[in-house]
Amino acid sequence: STSATGEATALAYPNIALVKYWGKRDETMFLPVTSSLSMTLDIFATTTTVRVTDGPADEIEFNGTAATGSAHTRIERFLDLVRAKAGRTERATVVTVNDGPTGAGLASSASGFAALATAAATAYGLDLDGRALSRLARRGSGSASRSIFGGFVVWHAGEGDGEAGDLSSYAEPIGGDELDPALVVAVVNQTAKTVSSRDAMRATTQTSPFYRPWAESSMLDFDEMRRAVARGDLAAIGEIAERNALGMHATMLTARPGIRYLSPHSLAVLDAVQALRADGVLAYATIDAGPNVKVLCTRADAARVAATVESLGDFVTTRTAHIGPGATLLPDTA
Ligand code: PMV
Repeated sequence: STSATGEATALAYPNIALVKYWGKRDETMFLPVTSSLSMTLDIFATTTTVRVTDGPADEIEFNGTAATGSAHTRIERFLDLVRAKAGRTERATVVTVNDGPTGAGLASSASGFAALATAAATAYGLDLDGRALSRLARRGSGSASRSIFGGFVVWHAGEGDGEAGDLSSYAEPIGGDELDPALVVAVVNQTAKTVSSRDAMRATTQTSPFYRPWAESSMLDFDEMRRAVARGDLAAIGEIAERNALGMHATMLTARPGIRYLSPHSLAVLDAVQALRADGVLAYATIDAGPNVKVLCTRADAARVAATVESLGDFVTTRTAHIGPGATLLPDTA
């Protein structure tokens, strides 16, 4: 919703990378080392309202509780960016509701900053197109640049640092929605991670001898993945996604000291995915900065994949996602 007083509400969904973003070349501008490719989901939405106020400070409410400390600072810094772009100084009230688990490697920062960027830009009177919004969302969380758009999305690494890098590093949709895959999200742990993806990325790029080789092969994966999406080859998409994710985890495991998001429960799900493939089911896994596993399969196989994963035991529950839409402003509710 928009009004003269400067208020807007936006809705955005998380996205899961099939070719991962892992490592920044410029930390202030959030410029990645490599380009990435994702699928926007239709579950675990974030809804965010931003209202410009005449109060003395930003007030941020997250799932019904006032945000404090680093969570508050991160959003305040992001609003400072929006204010600088808009030439405004007023503070804001931000109310955010997350449908899914937060900080558990389920892309809550992607949906969160995509919704915040969309709502804040409108509330502060900025008129940004999709590309500019995705560049803005990138500054909150790199992966958020991709949640501005629906379906299959690429985020271009871009070229150069600073201003040039900022202008060339944006996301855009690439079509392929007719592939209509399912992503069975196997939740083995809902609690927030203890090492942030930002810290883990920094440690990995700086200390893992596997980082450079992974980044180089990820650039090849990216090109191959674009071709696989263009020809609608879900098996190839899954194969590339799985090896790219396992490679990313190899770079974390070989950081010094090693960082491990995978748990025995993650490995149990990976075993189940392998068993499904041995049975002739198209199923491939990807894992982000957390122990939860996402299984890519066809819409028709999703129920069987979910049942197989759930039969592993009480430690795992599933939610099935399909292709979802980009970030949107919600109509006026006032
Ligand atoms: O943008 P961040 O800080 O949420 O980092 C995302 C990192 C991964 O989820 C592991 C990979 C990705 O491309 O989303």
